[in-house]
Amino acid sequence: MAFFTLRLTEDDVVEMIDQRKLPLEISYVKLKSYEDVYGAIKNMIVRGAPAIGVSAAFGLYLGGKSLLNSSEAKYYEAFKEKFFKICDFMFSARPTAVNLGWAIERIKSLVIKDKGKTVTSIVQDIKTESLKIYDEDIEINKNMGHYGAELLKDGYTVLTHCNAGALATAGYGTALGVIRAAVENNKRISVIAGETRPFLQGARLTTWELMEDGIPVTLIADNSAGLLMRKGKINTVIVGADRIASNGDVANKIGTYQVAVLAHENNIPFYVAAPLSTIDLKLESGDEIPIEERDIDEVVNVFGTRIAPNGVEALNYAFDITPNKYVKAIITEKGVLYPPYKKSIAEAFGK
Ligand code: MRU
Repeated sequence: MAFFTLRLTEDDVVEMIDQRKLPLEISYVKLKSYEDVYGAIKNMIVRGAPAIGVSAAFGLYLGGKSLLNSSEAKYYEAFKEKFFKICDFMFSARPTAVNLGWAIERIKSLVIKDKGKTVTSIVQDIKTESLKIYDEDIEINKNMGHYGAELLKDGYTVLTHCNAGALATAGYGTALGVIRAAVENNKRISVIAGETRPFLQGARLTTWELMEDGIPVTLIADNSAGLLMRKGKINTVIVGADRIASNGDVANKIGTYQVAVLAHENNIPFYVAAPLSTIDLKLESGDEIPIEERDIDEVVNVFGTRIAPNGVEALNYAFDITPNKYVKAIITEKGVLYPPYKKSIAEAFGK
């Protein structure tokens, strides 16, 4: 792959491909503070649940490091108090993807465990942990690919929504990781990418990323999915997730629910590929998942050009909930989980 989604450089800069500009411009931003990383998550320079989690971990490292210059955070308790405030700030960047909170909690637990160590060594541990989260993410995606590829037959055409690829993770991808793994197993797979209004992750990112890898991809307007399903042009659907409740209800990019219902109506399997870190065991059902509402500017404009009348009312929910009854299986790094999800999810967590 000729690009990377994000990385922590040797001189402690977080570099990210600017996903607002792809594919027209391939450029990288350099983020030197935790505030910069927060801004990059909020403004969707980086997006996709796992990539948001990894970014937050790197951002917290920069935040921890910045405290080393403060005379007021020389000792553990003061450091912890200030660092946890940075964690709260980072957590507020985007509400739906549970991987954000998951990564932050992982770093916070480390700081709690490190009580008694010097502040300098705690910050070093945060760096090590953030790099571990990054490496693990790629490995998890490959494992997910290994299990998920079994579900795809040679010659299949797969519909996906949004971008759940290398660009949405530290690398390889979740839904697109499954497709990559099937292709690596010599299966001929082609992809249909829904454009994914309003941010156009499908049109801009999924198509670009798959074309970079030489995987055949066809772009459709979101509202074409039903017709193509009826025409028998889609064998299966695979999407990612931002949060999955313990009963298997799935929050993913707005429009996913429509695709799932259409797939059900047309007898097409609808799969969700997501790491266990996307599952929120605390939630009984999808009704409890917070849904991000973004600025309506994203809806009334396309790439800076106004397309709707001035003063029009608009709604911009970024995610929707797909009830578990539409989800044929959830592909995780521990294997493929089938309904009833309450049981299979609990088992995947060893409960
Ligand atoms: O708003 P986004 O682009 O962050 O939304 C991303 C999605 O909905 C993805 O499908 C999801 O995060 C899974 S990414 C592996």
